[in-house]
Amino acid sequence: HSPELDRLLQAYEWSAKFYHYLLKNTEYGKAAMDYLRSRKFSDQMIDQFQIGYAPDRWDTLLQFLERRNFDLAEMEKGGLLSSRSEGKGYIDRFRGRIIFPIANRAGKVVAFAGRILGEGQPKYLNSPESKLFNKSRILYNLHQSKASIRKTRQIVLFEGYGDVISAWESGVQNGVATMGTSLTENHASMMKALADEAVIAYDGDRAGQAAAMKALPMLEATGLRVKVAVLPGGLDPDEFVAQYGGDRFREQIIESAVSTVKFKLIYLKKNHILLEEDGKIAYVKEALQIIASLHSSTEREVYLKEIASELELSYDSLKQDCNLLRASMQ
Ligand code: UTP
Ligand code: MN
Ligand code: MN
Ligand code: MN
Ligand code: MN
Repeated sequence: HSPELDRLLQAYEWSAKFYHYLLKNTEYGKAAMDYLRSRKFSDQMIDQFQIGYAPDRWDTLLQFLERRNFDLAEMEKGGLLSSRSEGKGYIDRFRGRIIFPIANRAGKVVAFAGRILGEGQPKYLNSPESKLFNKSRILYNLHQSKASIRKTRQIVLFEGYGDVISAWESGVQNGVATMGTSLTENHASMMKALADEAVIAYDGDRAGQAAAMKALPMLEATGLRVKVAVLPGGLDPDEFVAQYGGDRFREQIIESAVSTVKFKLIYLKKNHILLEEDGKIAYVKEALQIIASLHSSTEREVYLKEIASELELSYDSLKQDCNLLRASMQ
């Protein structure tokens, strides 16, 4: 490590503590604390994840860093301060935002994600990429979840900070999240290095499900066994926990994660109106493409039978079409 990187690490560590203190112990943090409470973040999780608050002022962190003799230009480069748009000098980069510290695998804070209170753009403001912080190489919470991942040989992949935190409180402590970027090959191989099985638990909305369809082959390519946790009603994991509680989240969402084939079938089905003949036939055609490529005849039988009973079709005709398709694939 260069001395400059060490100073930046020190600044992030102290800033994280400072923001956490401001959230919990000062008037500045009161509205943020109310907001977190309204979202059911517990005191315990606020401590565990060192959540903080950056007041809506220009120079809170600036003064903190100045008093500790940090080089302000260095702090700007590292993403804690911003340059004034006019004239010389610096201002706080994070203002009026809840702070989620992002740690590397060693548990050192290397970046912040700042969430606006309530509505507004951008919803999350992140530290810029730096020598310390490379989004495609960092998984949020990996430093805390490693132990549980190694023990269970399973890793759960979420979209967001709140999802990881709610899951943790529900007893799912092998969760990580990418940070506003889609999963990279790098992330996937980091996951494979610790686990045998990955559970994708992305948001239940369209964007989340589409992202799951993309993440799936990348994870499978590493040799991980992959399952998908399906969230109902467009909810994300954090919203599901707030609405239905941690026990139901564990049992009905994580432990009930479905096979990749099942997930692809569910995903396909959403694009078709099964009450209409055309829709039904189109769905079956696409579904057969997936099922026909399965090597195990038992697996093919399981899914064909499910579709047969669901759509009130005969297993025999589905099997026949499936075999024709297989013959044409060879
Ligand atoms: P979501 O839009 O699903 O946000 O984005 P969320 O995690 O549910 O946030 P809450 O519950 O409203 O607070 C998923 C993730 O994408 C990244 C963040 O990592 C977020 O957790 N993201 C999203 C950004 O980096 N910037 C954004 O403006 C939005
Ligand atoms: Mn929550
Ligand atoms: Mn989302
Ligand atoms: Mn979400
Ligand atoms: Mn959310």
